[in-house]
Amino acid sequence: MRAHIAVLPGDGIGVEVTAWGARVLQHVADAYGHTFRVSEGSIGGNAIDASGSPLPDASLALCKQADAILVGAVGGPKWDVGPPEARPEYGLLRLRKELRLYANLRPVKAIDALVESSPLRREIVEGTDLLVLRELTGGLYFGRPRGRSANKRGIRVKDTLTYTSGEMERIIRLGFDLARQRRKQLASVDKANVLASSGLWREIAEQVAEDYPDVTVEHILVDACAMHLINDPRRFDVLVTENMFGDILSDEASVLAGSLGMLPSASLGRGRRGLYEPVHGTAPDIVGQDKANPLAAILSVAMLLRHSLGLEQEAAAVESAVEDVLAAGLRTPDLARGASGERAVGTEAMGEAVLERIG
Ligand code: NAD
Ligand code: IPM
Ligand code: MN
Repeated sequence: MRAHIAVLPGDGIGVEVTAWGARVLQHVADAYGHTFRVSEGSIGGNAIDASGSPLPDASLALCKQADAILVGAVGGPKWDVGPPEARPEYGLLRLRKELRLYANLRPVKAIDALVESSPLRREIVEGTDLLVLRELTGGLYFGRPRGRSANKRGIRVKDTLTYTSGEMERIIRLGFDLARQRRKQLASVDKANVLASSGLWREIAEQVAEDYPDVTVEHILVDACAMHLINDPRRFDVLVTENMFGDILSDEASVLAGSLGMLPSASLGRGRRGLYEPVHGTAPDIVGQDKANPLAAILSVAMLLRHSLGLEQEAAAVESAVEDVLAAGLRTPDLARGASGERAVGTEAMGEAVLERIG
C-alpha cells in the first residue's frame, strides 16, 4: 500500500514521542512492504514562533492532502499569554474543526502487565476495557459569543455552549454503532439535571436508542460518572459524551491504564482521513529528559493503521509489541512502581524495544 502521512510533532514532549511514532510507521512499512510518504508540518507554539500562527496555512494544506495525520501535542508555559486565538492550543482546535473530525475515540484498556502501575487496587482496575467517545467539534470549545468585556463594576467573561441536534445525533449514533461492535453497552453522559444542552442530548439519546434494541443504554450524570469511572470501571463499555466532559473524563480514565502516557486517540469524520494523537499534553515538567512515555503516540499509530489505512494486521502487531515490552517489565518513569521484575527505561530505550518486537 502507498499512503501519505502528515506528522505534526508540535511542542514539548510532542516532539519526543512523535519521533517514535514516525519510526514505528517506517518500520511497519519496511516489515510489511508498504510505502508511507511522511511529510512534517508545524503546529502550536513553535509554529507561532516561526510564522506567527499556531496553524500555518502550509500545515493545514498538508493535512488536507494527507491520508492520515499524526500529531504530538501543543502548548507550554512560554505561550500561556494572550487571548485563546493566539495560543498554541487554538492551532489544534482549528485543525480538528477544519477537517470536520467530530468523533474522538479514546480507548482505555488496563493492560495486564500494568495493573500494578495504577494507583488504584488490582480488583478495581483489572479487566477494564472501555472507550470514551468524545464529541470534538462543538460545545464550549467553539461556541460564540465568547470573550471579555469590562465596565466600571468589573470584568465580565463569556463562553457559549452550543450544539445542534444534528451534531448530537451523529456522535450518539456512532456511540451505538461502536457499542454494537463491542459489548453492546452504551453509557450516555450528560448533565441533564442542569443544562439545556444536556436536556436535548438525553432526548436524542433516548430516541436513537429505539433503533438499537440490542444495545443496553444507561444515562449517567457526568459528576456521578466521574466517580463510577474509578470506583467500578468494568461497568463501562462505550461512554459517549460532549466535548468538554469527554476531555475531562478521558484524563481521569487514564489512571485506569496506568498513566496518561498510555492513552492514544483517533479523531474521525465522515471519510477515512483521521487525526491521531496521544491524549496527553506537552508535559513541560519532563521535557528534554528522556522521561516521556512514547507508548501513547505509538498506540496512536496503531489506530492510524487500523482506521485510516485499514491495515488491521499491522495495527495488531504494533499493539502486541507494546504489550510484549510491558510484559518484559520495561517501564518509563510514569509507569514505574519499583516492583521486582521492572526495568527502568527512558523514551529512547522504550521506543527501541517496541521497534525490535514489530514484524
Ligand atoms: P500534560 O498532559 O502535558 O501533563 C500532565 C502530567 O502528566 C504531567 O505531570 C506530565 O509529566 C505527565 N505526562 C503527560 N504525558 C506523559 C507521557 N507521555 N509520559 C510521561 N508522563 C506524561 O498536561 P498539562 O501539564 O496540564 O499541560 C501542559 C501543556 O500541554 C499545556 O500547554 C496544555 O494546553 C497542553 N496540552 C496539549 C494537549 C494536546 O496537544 N493534545 C493535551 C493536553 C494538554
Ligand atoms: C486534548 C487537549 C486539548 C483539548 C487542548 C490542548 C486544546 O486537552 O486533546 O485532550 O482540550 O481538546
Ligand atoms: Mn485533554
